Amino acid sequence: MRLVLLGAPGSGKGTQAQRLQSRRGVPQVSTGDLLREAVAAGTELGRKAQAVMDAGQLVDDATMLGIIRERLARPDAKRGFILDGFPRTIVQADGLARLLTEIGEPIDAVVLFDIDPFVLERRLAGRRTCRRCGRVFHVESNPPAASDLCTDGGPHDLVQRPDDNEETVRQRLAVYRERTQPLIDYYAKIGLLRRIDADGSLGDVDARLERAIA
Ligand code: AP5
Repeated sequence: MRLVLLGAPGSGKGTQAQRLQSRRGVPQVSTGDLLREAVAAGTELGRKAQAVMDAGQLVDDATMLGIIRERLARPDAKRGFILDGFPRTIVQADGLARLLTEIGEPIDAVVLFDIDPFVLERRLAGRRTCRRCGRVFHVESNPPAASDLCTDGGPHDLVQRPDDNEETVRQRLAVYRERTQPLIDYYAKIGLLRRIDADGSLGDVDARLERAIA
């Protein structure tokens, strides 16, 4: 299974990629997570990416294509992959197509998470991520249960992402409309696009995603 999850910030791509990864054993490849890991590790990429992410802009296409090439070369990606947050521009989509042709592993489907923009702000304002295991929660709609422990057996250590403040969210949504939305037509024209309604309970969205990729 080789999937691309496409949608606005907060539409639920990361949440659904993590759930699909648990059900199918296919790795989630989140470019946002890869960049945040580089920031946390203080690498040169991390230092360069941090300012861009804090401003709600996109890291340059050549850097992102290099990151994806390296990530898809790891052994776990031989089982397939769920791309979350990549591609985000036409240049990235063209680069991905070339890379996948080269390695003989074409995309099966691109799933667009359709959602009302008003829902997004509420989702992003309440999002919390576990600092240790990276799982995504929401203070209202998806808090961790008392029995739901982190990988180290302790409670999840929840933090808010620095780019989930009001001003940066507005900028990220504008960048999505300008740079990423054109990918909807791009993938529709080549017959890969499937749309799902991304509003509703997590279980409802799970079921819609499963139907879309069946
Ligand atoms: P990235 O980390 O990819 O952020 P994003 O695309 O803005 O997406 P989000 O992670 O904000 O949202 P999501 O759709 O995954 O929603 P989630 O599941 O968390 O990128 C961050 C930055 O990195 C970018 O701004 C850019 O600078 C850089 N970057 C990354 N990739 C790049 C690339 N390819 N090129 C260039 N730059 C790049 O859900 C949100 C909240 O809603 C959570 O709290 C969740 O619990 C809740 N929720 C989810 N589903 C539901 C539901 N059905 N009902 C109720 N609540 C729900």
